[in-house]
Amino acid sequence: MFSQTVQDAINEQINNEFSASYSYLAMSTYCERQNFLGCSRWLRIQSQEEYGHGTRLLDFLIARGGTVVLKAVPEPPVQYKSIAAVFEQALSQEQEVTQQIDRLYELALKEKAFAALVQLQWFITEQVEEEKSAREIVAKFHLLRDDPAALLDLDRELGSRTRETAPATAG
Ligand code: FEO
Repeated sequence: MFSQTVQDAINEQINNEFSASYSYLAMSTYCERQNFLGCSRWLRIQSQEEYGHGTRLLDFLIARGGTVVLKAVPEPPVQYKSIAAVFEQALSQEQEVTQQIDRLYELALKEKAFAALVQLQWFITEQVEEEKSAREIVAKFHLLRDDPAALLDLDRELGSRTRETAPATAG
């Protein structure tokens, strides 16, 4: 069993992952309203991935005999400035999650929570992939700017994402 400090921090991260899931879901519905159905699909799948990350940590905490405490998830925005702004926010959200995971890893190391360290290694690898995907999409939006035909192509490309081909699922 871990210390209470590690348990609290894992519960905090479970909340962060579910918050990310909810946030991606909000982004997905915004894109759908703007008729960017491919972007909407990509974000919906990402929302499911984040839900998977939350339950992965939740299952881990249960397996270690811990107590899961589900906290309130913040209400995400309804409106965004543009489709490109949605993905910019996705990128900064991922960068924030990377920092959260790094801090959690540092704490687990300090507390000698070795099983948690192994579990968190998966998340560290996952964050590299997730940041990379978001950064590439943001770069494409910056490149295309307001070219409608190219934007439609990008929307189609993002819409081809499936759960199977998405980077590193939660297993
Ligand atoms: Fe689960 Fe994208 O952080």
